[in-house]
Amino acid sequence: MARAKKNVRKSGRRHPLATAALIAVGLLVTGGAYAGFSQTSATAEIDLEAPATIEAGEKLFGANCATCHGAAAQGTPDGPTLIGVGAASVDFQVSTGRMPLAFQGPQGMVKPTQFTDEQTLQMAAYVASLAPGPGLPESQYLQADSDDEGIARGGDLFRINCAMCHNVSAAGGALTQGKFAPKLGGVAPNHIYEAMVTGPQNMPVFSDANISPQEKADIISYLKYIEEKPAIGGVALGSIGPVAEGLFIWVIGLGAIIGLTVWVTAKSN
Ligand code: HEC
Ligand code: HEC
Repeated sequence: MARAKKNVRKSGRRHPLATAALIAVGLLVTGGAYAGFSQTSATAEIDLEAPATIEAGEKLFGANCATCHGAAAQGTPDGPTLIGVGAASVDFQVSTGRMPLAFQGPQGMVKPTQFTDEQTLQMAAYVASLAPGPGLPESQYLQADSDDEGIARGGDLFRINCAMCHNVSAAGGALTQGKFAPKLGGVAPNHIYEAMVTGPQNMPVFSDANISPQEKADIISYLKYIEEKPAIGGVALGSIGPVAEGLFIWVIGLGAIIGLTVWVTAKSN
């Protein structure tokens, strides 16, 4: 008996629980990766107001940023003044790798950061010490843990405030003069928050009066939600919008109708 059973299993049939186990493993891996991801927030144990931190930041700034932004961050023809841009702007620009700018182009590019979190925050502390500006986001708003209602609200806010540049599915889009609004999939929650409060390049600033911190958290939750379930309206088709969808209907839809016509005609003969 026991041998017979063994043979059945060997013949390629899976254990009834195998599928469930596979799904469970898949969910665990995704969940784990996601949890690791949401902890990348650099809102740190570092005291941004400590004189030693500010001093260390000033040194780093002098060595890496002053050629373009000026010795006292007052700005030069090669870079804007950073007085009043706040810690959030420095953290966003440096930890996404946009700064230091590698070449004069229409837009700083995302690249691997050249600094540790600690060094980034030291420079942020220095710039923040020059004049008040948007501070680092509080971690409570970066958890991407809004409930269904919050996610729906985040989706509404995204379509109203962001989709015209970043595309309804957050796939990004071209702007004028070689600039572009990047795709938002895979962007860390703290960088999403910081982009909203600092408005890099052509992006508007969304102050707390405009979109409250909780609403920002809802937008982050929504973006993380569609990242996990990218194809809400069916197959995403590359998310490049109506053109792809139209093409799909033309090729597959019309193809099916023609095929059906041929089949019906052939049958009636
Ligand atoms: C080669 C010149 C250059 C260097 C070096 C450079 N920057 Fe910039 N930076 C720019 C330019 C140009 C802009 C504006 C264009 C843009 O935002 O893409 C800018 C923008 C910024 C902004 C955004 C300002 C705002 O209004 O929000 C911050 C913050 C910033 N830089 C920080 C730094 C820091 C910190 C360093 C050093 C680690 C650095 N930059 C090095 C040229 C430079
Ligand atoms: C007018 C067009 C415009 C609107 C509206 C806009 N953005 Fe942006 N956004 C941009 C541009 C341009 C950049 C790139 C800036 C750069 O590279 O310096 C950007 C960058 C970003 C980034 C950084 C992405 C990365 O790869 O680091 C995030 C996150 C972001 N936007 C989120 C939002 C959210 C959320 C909203 C709505 C609340 C929004 N944006 C509204 C134009 C826009």
